[in-house]
Amino acid sequence: MLQATTMPTADVQIIDCSGFESETMDLFLAPGPNPYRETEAFLFDCEMRADEMPRAVRRSLLEFQVRSNAEGVLLLRGLPIDPGLYRTQTPLDGRRSIHKTTYVSERCLAMVGSRLGHLVSYIQEKNGDLFQSLAPVKGSERVQSSGGSQTRLQFHRETVFHPYPPEFLLLFCLRPDHDRLAETTYASIAHALPLLSDEHRDLLFQPLYRTGIDYSFGNVQGTKANGKVLPVLYGNRHDPFLNYDEDLMEAMTPAAEAALAALQAAIASVYRGIKLDTGDLLCIDNRRTVHGRSSFTPRYDGFDRWLQRSFVVRDLGLSAVDRQPGERIIRTRFEAIG
Ligand SMILES: [Fe+2]
Repeated sequence: MLQATTMPTADVQIIDCSGFESETMDLFLAPGPNPYRETEAFLFDCEMRADEMPRAVRRSLLEFQVRSNAEGVLLLRGLPIDPGLYRTQTPLDGRRSIHKTTYVSERCLAMVGSRLGHLVSYIQEKNGDLFQSLAPVKGSERVQSSGGSQTRLQFHRETVFHPYPPEFLLLFCLRPDHDRLAETTYASIAHALPLLSDEHRDLLFQPLYRTGIDYSFGNVQGTKANGKVLPVLYGNRHDPFLNYDEDLMEAMTPAAEAALAALQAAIASVYRGIKLDTGDLLCIDNRRTVHGRSSFTPRYDGFDRWLQRSFVVRDLGLSAVDRQPGERIIRTRFEAIG
């Protein structure tokens, strides 16, 4: 009767959804409110549907929400996809596809996200869409953002510089790259920490680091360290959270710089990669795990790699000051860009 199984593999904890019974598939496939025009109705509908997901799936998501895991990632594999997706073109501009007129992938993101917290977006990114297309953009091949392709996307926590960063990041794969070479890379602090000396840990726990504002938030010059000062590690000394951006973060003293370099080397030696396939939904614990992407070669033929991304916060109230009532878009302004 119970269709879903949780399989801790050597690396990633995987929930295999491919054996879902038709009743469960229908939770994702049955039409409902429009996620872009009736956003709140859509999210509430998805949350109610998620209550009916198999118990094993809900249990795994609850455990991941409450205590995470050593990898800081959870992969749902084989989720249903939009009918006709195979002929829907990947958006060339990295924006929302006007040709995608069913919302199964959005429902997968919202249903899974509802068990981890609440979906939010940021006004500076992709018009504040809650469901954002990530696809290679012509002319951006070497840019450190989701439109890049032919250069490695360096390790980062999502929106380190922001006062209301997401606790979880969700990536749903609609289409892998042509060559099936692109890997979503990740590294957890649980794996990197044992490689750091006590001296370096002490430094990383101090506010000796200045981060930068993301390219996608308007920092198009890629100016480093124009954001706030903060510690890299925080929380429990033996099970810390981390703030890290390989590209935009700088240390404020030579000793702090050496500790940051040691963390960079530790991340480079423990990171792992996942090749996401159609129907895979990767949940990333954004407080414990940094992520990036290997390079790949786009063709711009309408069938390039295409992911959808959503952000999840545990507490909507924290960002209420920078949101309009009844909206999920966080509108915090940043003055330091330049
Ligand atoms: Fe990212």
